[in-house]
Amino acid sequence: MTLDPAAFHAFEKLGWERASPHYDGAFGALTRQTAGPLLDAAGVSPGSRVLDVATGPGPIAAAAAARGAEVIGLDFSAAMIAEAKRQHPTIAFREGDAETLPFGATSFDAVVMNFGLLHLARPDTAIAEAHRVLRGGGRYALTVWAPPEEAIGFGLVLAAVREFGNPDVPLPEGPPFFRFSDHAEFRRTLECAGFSDVRIHSLALTWRLSAADAAFEAIARGGVRTAAILRAQTPAALEAIRGAVRRGVERYEKDGVFLVPMPAVLASGTKSG
Ligand SMILES: C[S@@+](CC[C@H](N)C(=O)[O-])C[C@H]1O[C@@H](n2cnc3c(N)ncnc32)[C@H](O)[C@@H]1O
Repeated sequence: MTLDPAAFHAFEKLGWERASPHYDGAFGALTRQTAGPLLDAAGVSPGSRVLDVATGPGPIAAAAAARGAEVIGLDFSAAMIAEAKRQHPTIAFREGDAETLPFGATSFDAVVMNFGLLHLARPDTAIAEAHRVLRGGGRYALTVWAPPEEAIGFGLVLAAVREFGNPDVPLPEGPPFFRFSDHAEFRRTLECAGFSDVRIHSLALTWRLSAADAAFEAIARGGVRTAAILRAQTPAALEAIRGAVRRGVERYEKDGVFLVPMPAVLASGTKSG
């Protein structure tokens, strides 16, 4: 299949409108764990002008505001922006696209994006846009998931689809989901976009689940690409996949809760000049 960025962008946009009521309950407690290291890597301090791209329900924007930063959260999903405003009524949020940022050059001291890059049709364009809106010396910091062998929740679902279902369902082709899980590729991309002092770290996040079925449910309802693969399975295959993921999660039980490793990759760089 050939990559059609416009088709993939439209697919993701529709997917996020659909996932927004479920996203925060499914992933919020997990994705928030990066807030401290992400904002540190971006050098966010009181008075910093910060743009949080792909803000979702706004957890990173809220953490930046709590540091005394002057923050704007941006997302292309109207439903996500409505939820962010509901949760954080004193913070500025607006609809807009990571690939065509609605801000002038050199508007921000820091740009952050938490688990947004891997959903974009044109990630290199979004990185160039972040570079454009940063002031010289400003810092960019962003996270993606580690590869599926390490980010166990995703690994379990993808392996179960391969074993019990059909991974080759017709979906708009997108860029490789785990492209930036590769530290060398992440570094190369940021340096090519004009960032210096590039730093790449692993973050050891843990998905704390109260039920062994919760990982399957979260990915099936609160995500987009993998959720669409799951929706395209036959009912029998879907039940087999759900069972395999449940058994996989059960291996991480400790004192009645399930502690599933979900490491992330944090990358940051400085705009020279
Ligand atoms: C996995 S969620 C991350 C939300 C939030 N940053 C967090 O840490 O929980 C990805 C978000 O990216 C947004 N998104 C995806 N593609 C986008 C684009 N091209 N422009 C702006 N937002 C986008 C989605 O609407 C969704 O809210």
